[in-house]
Amino acid sequence: MSPRLSQRGRVEPFHVMELLKAANRRAATHGDVISLCAGQPSTPAPVVALEAVATAVRDGAVLGYTDAMGTAVCREAIAGHLQRTSGLRVDPAHVAVTTGSSAGFTALFLAAFDPGDVVMMTRPGYPAYRNTLAALGCRAVELECGPAVRFQPTVALLEEWTAAAGAPPAGLIIASPANPTGTVIAPDELAAIARWCDANDVLLVSDEIYHGVTFGEQAASAWETSREAVLVGSVSKYFSMTGWRVGWLVLPEHLVRPVELLLGNLNICAPAIAQVAAAAALGPTARLELDGHVRRYRDNRDHVLARLPELGVTQWAPADGAFYAYADVSHLTLDSVAYCDQLLAATGVAITPGVDFAPGHGPTPGLDGQRWVRMSLAGSTEDIDEAMSRWIAHVRSGPGTRHT
Ligand SMILES: Cc1ncc(COP(=O)(O)O)c(C=O)c1O
Repeated sequence: MSPRLSQRGRVEPFHVMELLKAANRRAATHGDVISLCAGQPSTPAPVVALEAVATAVRDGAVLGYTDAMGTAVCREAIAGHLQRTSGLRVDPAHVAVTTGSSAGFTALFLAAFDPGDVVMMTRPGYPAYRNTLAALGCRAVELECGPAVRFQPTVALLEEWTAAAGAPPAGLIIASPANPTGTVIAPDELAAIARWCDANDVLLVSDEIYHGVTFGEQAASAWETSREAVLVGSVSKYFSMTGWRVGWLVLPEHLVRPVELLLGNLNICAPAIAQVAAAAALGPTARLELDGHVRRYRDNRDHVLARLPELGVTQWAPADGAFYAYADVSHLTLDSVAYCDQLLAATGVAITPGVDFAPGHGPTPGLDGQRWVRMSLAGSTEDIDEAMSRWIAHVRSGPGTRHT
């Protein structure tokens, strides 16, 4: 019997996970790794969340399955957080608690899109959108967004794409701040995009997972303009709780019940103990601690951007938020995968090749991911400084040739 393997299961690797595996292998043998590849804070969950978990465990909380949409306490905490931070009045009935935002995307895509539907994302953009859509039989199309538009979509670009394609996409996924660039969509442009989506019957999926991690103006929310949009959030980034696996969707009325049915079947519910922790973290008490992390990310960003020229780098994305530096290293390599492997082997510094975010060849060769790398700035300032020093020393001592 021939082994059964589906076509749609053959997704691209998430290169950052491959790098993480290689970095962990090297850490075991050399002990010198500084990992700037994964987008995760190096700090634990906020104290108030840890205390809530300790109390629940001590008091013998049952921690069984919760409602598919999450506990009432967690859904109310998410609604309260959105009200405090963005002034949004959200009915907790429109909130779905998910197993990280990742599980939310799967349920949402299944609820909203059919196989063959065209769903647009930015190039560069977060790879799991593309790979999850592909696994579900949808067609992910990339809208190239370069430095001229600060790596973010505009209504003009959407109009241009739609005119060329003859029809708008079924969905548009945006992220502000974005991964890998950290750029924020200006509030008026976000509002215009939301209005354009409504007028063209395009489901706007606004990934707001990096909200809270901004270094200037706070990022606007799509729900300030349109309640037809879907908001995506998570405790992974600002809340420093990646492994707890709690995210959320804020849904327009028509998607609430379909998403509930899908979540109940796909995941049953998000982990109960993690919902306890998330509800506590979402309250006002944790903000002081968490805002301290954001100040460190900003310092790290300033530090890294100031040192990029020492590597000969002249082009990078303006990181308004999130915790990444996305830099053009085409003077060093035209094969960012090989370059990141080689940098790890030579220096113990792990960074992510841009091919995760801009794979293959796009309309503008200079934006292809083989020419770019991403560094995570979420670690300690000392580690980031040491990583930059090692990288700079490596470039200075190197043969100066580029991989092609
Ligand atoms: C833009 C973006 N969206 C979603 C996710 C998924 O996060 P999680 O599943 O931990 O909520 C990530 C993770 O890096 C991300 O960068």
